Amino acid sequence: MAEPRILIVDDEPDMVDSCARILRRAGHRCLTATDPRRALALLESERPDLLLTDLKMPELDGLALLRRAHELDPALPVIVITAFATIESAVAAIKEGAFDYLPKTFSADQLGLVVERALRQRRLALENRNLRDQLQTTFGLENVIGRSPAMAQVFELVKKAARSEANILVLGESGTGKELIARAVHANSPRAAQAFIPVDCASLPENLLESELFGHEKGAFTGAVRTKPGLMEVAGGGTLFLDEIGDLPVNLQVKLLRALQERQIRRVGGTTLIDVDVRVVSATNRDLREATAKGQFREELYYRVNVIEIRLPPLHERAGDVRLLAHAFLKRYGQGRVHAYDDVAMTALEAYAWPGNVRELQNVVERACALAEGDTITRRDLPDHVLGSGARPAVSGAATPSVEAHLAGTTELGLKEAKDRWMAVLEASYLKELLDRNGGNISAAAKAAGIDRKTFHRLVNKHQIRG
Ligand SMILES: Nc1ncnc2c1ncn2[C@@H]1O[C@H](COP(=O)(O)OP(=O)(O)OP(=O)(O)O)[C@@H](O)[C@H]1O
Ligand SMILES: [Mg+2]
Repeated sequence: MAEPRILIVDDEPDMVDSCARILRRAGHRCLTATDPRRALALLESERPDLLLTDLKMPELDGLALLRRAHELDPALPVIVITAFATIESAVAAIKEGAFDYLPKTFSADQLGLVVERALRQRRLALENRNLRDQLQTTFGLENVIGRSPAMAQVFELVKKAARSEANILVLGESGTGKELIARAVHANSPRAAQAFIPVDCASLPENLLESELFGHEKGAFTGAVRTKPGLMEVAGGGTLFLDEIGDLPVNLQVKLLRALQERQIRRVGGTTLIDVDVRVVSATNRDLREATAKGQFREELYYRVNVIEIRLPPLHERAGDVRLLAHAFLKRYGQGRVHAYDDVAMTALEAYAWPGNVRELQNVVERACALAEGDTITRRDLPDHVLGSGARPAVSGAATPSVEAHLAGTTELGLKEAKDRWMAVLEASYLKELLDRNGGNISAAAKAAGIDRKTFHRLVNKHQIRG
């Protein structure tokens, strides 16, 4: 904000003059108008940083001016000046979004103070806006790499779906880019200037997740030392991203459903209903329809959150994208030092099945960049199991690399490293087995393993296990 300018509007010329005199003396630049319609024209042509307006004026009153001003510039702070007799209308103006009000009998100091505060708020709002613009370019669709027909279809759908207010469900295996797509939906939506609030439904125990989502009142439970608004409130006007929604405990499914139907919530331990205005984008790698049929997921909630469904194809179904992504990640992790693949390495990457999808490819390229000795990635820099699929058949001939395949070659390592590798392989196969046995349900699998959901989830991600 170069030099802030203040627009002063009052039908009494004396009032306008004295305000302008005080503010100019304090070093501010002022524009003035005694006719509210002229003020409107100035708002449009001059784009001031602060509006100081009388409330009661003939033809167009201050409240109407305030509304029009916010249509032009939602971040414009507005201070209304009001006679004591109309303090109620001043309060109404605050509810309409005015920054503050001043009684007609204000002193020069009072005026100076409230103007300084309003301009500070303006500066913050502009900084936030810049930040958001930057975020928007960081999280827009241009960052989702892919030229395959399968992904072109996804992009089309994202653009169309983003424009609507409909709740969106993003489906896809682990590592296919669900979160990236959720952010792109937000960045392309009319809510882009507001917050994008991610909530991981799988990583917290039920009661913590509940107070995270809905907030709590002071004293609602031991440890609730102060009132805390929930993320549904914090996301007001913006997008709430419910990651791993398939793992939402049943009690919270019911509570969330009610919140979405009534657009109101009650904090934990609270009695008042609070209005919430959120658009919900959810993601899961589980088959929610099947979970619904099995009674593990509430059917009404399923239809609420799944107005539009975006299905991300697994990486091996995106013709040509492995090469594209491999080069993009090379640019990111090669740091200019490593900048090519030799033919054998690229052939291996393209032949591999990528069960961990884009995340796995990203990890493999990052590792290869660290290992590469020259400026080119060769087969030596790729893990055995990636080479296995194309260049050489897997040990047991299974589609997914077997335990034996993972253990092959560990004799080249020191005992400690080899042990770490064996443990990791065993841990991964144990977790996978448990997940399969529990139909992909993380909570149930964690329970069976005797560890908490958060730890289980972290391990599943670490080993890139698919449910
Ligand atoms: N099309 C893509 N272009 C560029 N990067 C991508 C793409 N898809 C995924 N990624 C990257 O891969 C990683 C995994 O993506 P993301 O976290 O969105 O996946 P996910 O589907 O949410 O996985 P999970 O189910 O395990 O949570 C991220 O680092 C993301 O930036
Ligand atoms: Mg994710």
